[in-house]
Amino acid sequence: MKLKIAVLSGDGVGPEVCDQAVKVLKAIELKFKHQFTFHEGLVGGVAIDKKGTPLPEETLTLCHESDAILFGAIGDPKYENSADTEIRPEEGLLKLRKDLGLYANIRPLKVYGPLIHKSPVKEKVIKNTDFIIFRELTGGIYYGEKKLSSDGHKASDECVYTTEEVDRVAHLAFKSAKSRRKKLTLIDKANVLETSRLWRKRVKELAKEYPEVTVDYLYVDNAAMKIILNPRAFDVILTENLFGDILSDEASVISGSIGLLASTSIGDKSVLFEPIHGSFPEKKGKNIANPLATILSAALLLEHFKLYEEADAIKSAVEKSIELNITTPDINATKKYAHTSTVGEFVSEYIIDKKNILYKMENISLGQSTII
Ligand code: IPM
Ligand code: MN
Repeated sequence: MKLKIAVLSGDGVGPEVCDQAVKVLKAIELKFKHQFTFHEGLVGGVAIDKKGTPLPEETLTLCHESDAILFGAIGDPKYENSADTEIRPEEGLLKLRKDLGLYANIRPLKVYGPLIHKSPVKEKVIKNTDFIIFRELTGGIYYGEKKLSSDGHKASDECVYTTEEVDRVAHLAFKSAKSRRKKLTLIDKANVLETSRLWRKRVKELAKEYPEVTVDYLYVDNAAMKIILNPRAFDVILTENLFGDILSDEASVISGSIGLLASTSIGDKSVLFEPIHGSFPEKKGKNIANPLATILSAALLLEHFKLYEEADAIKSAVEKSIELNITTPDINATKKYAHTSTVGEFVSEYIIDKKNILYKMENISLGQSTII
C-alpha cells in the first residue's frame, strides 16, 4: 500500500518519540513491502519560533494532502504561565483539529500484564481492564467564545454543542460498543449543564438504533471516582471534549504510565494519530521519553488502513520490549533502563527479524543496529 504520512512532531519530546514511530513504520514498510512517504510539517512552539504562527498554512496544506498524520506533542514552557502571551503553541493543535474536522478522539486503555505492578492502583482492581474513551474533539468549551473584560476582572468561556456534533461521535462510539462488550457509558454533568442534558437526550434517542448495546449514564464527578475504583466496569466511554481530556489523563494512571497510551482522531476526510501525553519539556533532548505511545499510535494508523497484520507486528514487538524490560525510565526504574532510541530500534528490529532478536539485541547495544 502507498501512504503519504505527514509527520508533525511539534515540541518538547515530540520529535524524539516521532522519530521512533517513523523508524518502526519504515521497518513495517520493508518487511511487508509497502510504500510509505514521510513529510515533516511544523506545528506548535517550534512553528511560532520559525514562522510566527503555531499552524503555518503549509502545514495545514500538507495535512490536507496526506493520507494520515502522525502527531508528536505540543507545548513549550516558554509560552506558559504568562497570561498575556498572545500566541500559544496549543492553538496550533486546536486549529488543526478544527480545520481538519477531527471530531472524535479515540483513546483505548489497556493494562499490560508485565507492567500491572507499576500502576499506583491495586493489581486486583485493574487486572483485565480494557476500555476505550470516545472524546468529542471539535466542540464544547474548547471552541466556545472566550471573553475577558477590559478591566481584566471577568472572563468567560462558552460551552456550545449541537445535536449534529453529539450524534456523529455517538454513532462511532455505539458502533465500537457493538463490536466489543456491548456497553456504552455516557459521562456528563446533566444535573447542572444544559449541554449535558442535550447529550443525554440525543444518546437516549440514538440508543434505539443499537438495541444490542446497554447504555448507562454517569455524572463526571462520580465517573472520575469509578474509573479508579472499578475500571473493569467500563467498555466504551462517550463524553464531551473537556471531560474527555481530563478523564483520559486520569485513566492513563491505571496503565502505569501515560507514556503508553495512543490515540486516533477521526474526521470525515482526515485522520490523525498521536500519543495522549504532552510535550514533557523537562525531558526534552535527553533521549529518555517513552516512545511506545507514539509507536502504538503508528499501529493504530496501520489498523485504520486495514493493515491488521502489520499493526499486530508492532503490537507484538511493543509487548516483547515490555516483557524484556527494554523500556524507558517511566516504567523501568532500574539503572538498566533503555533510551528512547533503543526502544525504537528494538521494536523495529523485532519486526524485521524476531527470530534473531537476541543476537540483534547485542548489536543494538553495540550501536550496530542494521536499520538505523
Ligand atoms: C490533549 C492535550 C490537548 C487538549 C492540549 C495540548 C491542547 O491535553 O490532546 O489531550 O487539551 O486537548
Ligand atoms: Mn489532555
